[in-house]
Parts: sequence; structure tokens; C-alpha cells
Amino acid sequence: MRFLFALLMFTVCTWAQASGNSAPDVNKDYRTKEGRAGVAKRLANPDRDQTQKPEAIVAALQLKPGMTVADIGTGVGYMLPFLSKAVGPSGRVIAEDIQTDFLESAKARIAAAQLTNVTAVLGSETDPNLPSGAVDVAMILDAYHHMEQPAKVLAALGRGLKKDGRLVLVEFHKADRPEHLRFDQAELIHEVESNGFRLLAKVDRITASQYLVTFGKK
Ligand SMILES: C[S@@+](CC[C@H](N)C(=O)[O-])C[C@H]1O[C@@H](n2cnc3c(N)ncnc32)[C@H](O)[C@@H]1O
Repeated sequence: MRFLFALLMFTVCTWAQASGNSAPDVNKDYRTKEGRAGVAKRLANPDRDQTQKPEAIVAALQLKPGMTVADIGTGVGYMLPFLSKAVGPSGRVIAEDIQTDFLESAKARIAAAQLTNVTAVLGSETDPNLPSGAVDVAMILDAYHHMEQPAKVLAALGRGLKKDGRLVLVEFHKADRPEHLRFDQAELIHEVESNGFRLLAKVDRITASQYLVTFGKK
């Protein structure tokens, strides 16, 4: 009996470590080129300007001209024109993702809109490859729940952010997307706070189905 209990605990712990923060099927579409093409189409849908509220998100980031902002998990770069404008020509936008095909689309968007202050960066599952201690604000929009090793990403973000830098996450409420998310807001805050950050502010409905949480470094 004791052996069976130990085996059960081992299986649960191994599964939890392997799947990290992401729900079992959340990255299914990301594993093939065709799947990612479908995701890319959704991310670039012009209807998003109404539902995603990019201006409200940028306002909550409290960006100033000259700042460096990182869009972690930029996808096809939907937010880049808004971020680029907010930090201005003296500022810098780092557009990071782990998928090269998404990053190529983001680069095309950067070139087409002549966003001269935006640089595309290829990251890994565990590290967005930010310059050390150089980032004022790191934003993760609709991407944290796709990260399979969030603790390692959070550690890397802590290294990339300036001492007074901020980490801002925009996530769906679990009640609105029960099949998509494992974590609700309280659990997410607990996880981020357990990995080197402290909660500074939150907006419960930045869009109809998403909240925004802002953290500083501990
Ligand atoms: C739903 S998309 C959101 C894209 C973009 N933030 C947007 O709102 O348009 C999720 C993104 O997270 C990226 N992603 C998944 N795991 C990641 C990781 N460990 N580091 C950085 N990006 C990651 C995916 O490649 C994908 O581009």
C-alpha cells in the first residue's frame, strides 16, 4: 500500500514537473508548422484591435519615451507598433519568441511598419535571452500559460530586468477558459511571487476576459 502511494506521488510530481504551467493540450497547435500557421492567422486578426484593447494594455505598462520594453512571446508581433510608439525613437523594443516562423512574421511586420526601435530576438523554452539588467518593462501577453518551464523563464526575466524593472502579465481568467488554463489569478500570482517577484498592481478586467498583473523584483 505504501509502495502504491509512493508510486502515485512520484507519477503526479513527474507529470507536474514535465508539464509546468501549461494545461495538457494548450501547446498542441504550436507543435507543427500547419498548427502555428493557424495560430498566426488568429494572432494577426484585425478584429483583435477591438477585443485585445492594445491601448489600454500599453497605458497600464506606464511606458515612457526612452524606456526599453520586452514583448516576451511576441508571436507575430501584434503589440509591436503600440509598444514602439510608446517608447519612441530614443527607446527600444525587444520582440522575443521561441518559434522562428512567428519571429519571421514579426520581422516582416517590423520592416513593413518601419519600426526602427524594435529588435527581434530568438529565445529558448527557459530563457528569453534578454540583455542583462537592461529592461524597464517585460510584458507577457497571453503567453505565460504556454510556457512549459515558467520558473526558469522567471529567473531569466529577473536577470534581464533593471533593479526597478517591472514584469507585466496579461492572462485569461480561468473561469472564462477552463480547458485552456491550469492556473487562476491567485495561483499565478503565488507562482510568480515564489520566483523572485512581488505583486505591485492588478487590473481584474483589462479586456472582457483577461486580467493584468504587475510585479516588481524582490
Ligand atoms: C497565444 S500566443 C500570444 C502571442 C502574442 N503575445 C500575442 O498576444 O499576439 C503565445 C506565444 O507564446 C510563445 N511562447 C511559448 N512558450 C514560450 C517561452 N518559453 N518563451 C517565450 N515565448 C513562448 C509562443 O511561441 C507564442 O508566440
